[in-house]
Amino acid sequence: MDSHSVQLRCRVNGDEVTVQGHPLSRLLDVLRTSLHLTGTKEGCGEGECGACGVLIDGRLVNSCLVPLLHADGASIVTIEGIGVGKLHAVQQAFLEHGGAQCGICTPGMVLAAVNLLDRIPNPSMDDVRIALSGNLCRCTGYVRIFESVLSAVQAQRAAATS
Ligand code: FES
Ligand code: FES
Repeated sequence: MDSHSVQLRCRVNGDEVTVQGHPLSRLLDVLRTSLHLTGTKEGCGEGECGACGVLIDGRLVNSCLVPLLHADGASIVTIEGIGVGKLHAVQQAFLEHGGAQCGICTPGMVLAAVNLLDRIPNPSMDDVRIALSGNLCRCTGYVRIFESVLSAVQAQRAAATS
């Protein structure tokens, strides 16, 4: 460990991990390089596109803007922590409704949608648009993504009443 490195502990997708690096390293790089969680994507690298989105203590953040130091003691969820064993309703809906094309934006989109459904179980189209407004997509024109999220809402509601 060099003199500028720190070692800290956090929880990633439910597992306790110890990570080491410069305190100002980008969380995005630590996740992808040190922890090999390459589902988190880099788009713009400057907080504009949402491709690098992860959840920290339940809050959606752009990991390209988060220094490693802020992960100390935090609970982080990446796309690898969503739909383990069985696809999340949002992931299933993206599959069924063409919500993903090239896939670069998809992990961030899915995490933003999962976070929305955790906060607002029955969102309106406006809620969906606002929740995903920090996530850019160059492929889909957004309509299929928004439809996917609303379809996931219906699927969750149907599952809850069956
Ligand atoms: S790569 Fe982080 S917001 Fe674009
Ligand atoms: S599916 Fe290609 S950027 Fe969204």
